[in-house]
Amino acid sequence: MIVAVINCKGGTGKTTTSVNLSAAWAALGFRVLLIDLDAQANASLSLGIAAADLSPSAMDMLFDDVPIESVIRSTSTTGLDLVTGESELASSDLILADLPDREKLLAHVLGSAKERYDFVICDCPPAMSMLSVNAVVAADQYIVPISPEYLALEGLITLLSTISRMKASMDIKAELLGILFTMVNLDRLPTRRREMKIQLKIIRLVQQQYGTDVFQAFVPRDVRLSETAAHGQTILEFAPNSKVATQHIRVADEVLRRCGITNQADDSMKREEEGHGQ
Ligand SMILES: Nc1ncnc2c1ncn2[C@@H]1O[C@H](COP(=O)(O)OP(=O)(O)OP(=O)(O)O)[C@@H](O)[C@H]1O
Ligand SMILES: [Mg+2]
Repeated sequence: MIVAVINCKGGTGKTTTSVNLSAAWAALGFRVLLIDLDAQANASLSLGIAAADLSPSAMDMLFDDVPIESVIRSTSTTGLDLVTGESELASSDLILADLPDREKLLAHVLGSAKERYDFVICDCPPAMSMLSVNAVVAADQYIVPISPEYLALEGLITLLSTISRMKASMDIKAELLGILFTMVNLDRLPTRRREMKIQLKIIRLVQQQYGTDVFQAFVPRDVRLSETAAHGQTILEFAPNSKVATQHIRVADEVLRRCGITNQADDSMKREEEGHGQ
């Protein structure tokens, strides 16, 4: 299954979600490929790739006919592979401007490689650039991470209507897998109370408007999610017993439920229990 993690607005938690959701699925026993489609290469850097070592990247796979197998690399997380991003991706729109079928390039280069993975996750850049359009065209599902603030809500409305308009004119099968709240303030300090009230108001508003399209699981605000990037680790490696790590497993589980996919870890635990019971 191909999942695009997308929001035109910057800094809503796309990369943090892509990296840690990928790690959570890998921890649950799934084979995951994360494709970093952002020129900032934040997902790649967060997974411990040095800035000088980003090449070969999605750039080579998309624009230089380098086979995807040659750009996929393994990560320190078992079961999680990566195609890196790099700064040259910033010129994608210019390169793609005159190409026929330019919105289908990613779907084309993914080819049969996607069959080797349970999940292929695309971390999109913060704009509806041609790379984001390619991710939506290639995807079966898309996740929209948003932070609970007024401007993020406006961004959500714009994004969803842009995708509906694209669906009217392009061959897009991707469905909304869910709207995921990130950076939710659970801090009960008096100085944070006003922020918490505003966040709750926005969350309720989005829940009223989008109903079950909103994930029940959410990602709390936790500074360790920023720290992990500096250590080149996922939250599951950096703070495996933290609430924020558990919440990413919850999000991963909720996606499985929404897609009717069996959790292999649960299955093998059940098999073990049955074995012990005999
Ligand atoms: N739940 C969280 N708690 C605390 N900090 C967070 C959380 N999620 C993300 N951050 C931090 O907020 C910043 C933006 O997050 P992130 O890079 O994931 O957003 P993005 O949507 O991918 O941004 P961009 O649009 O630039 O690609 C980063 O510094 C990240 O470490
Ligand atoms: Mg990002």
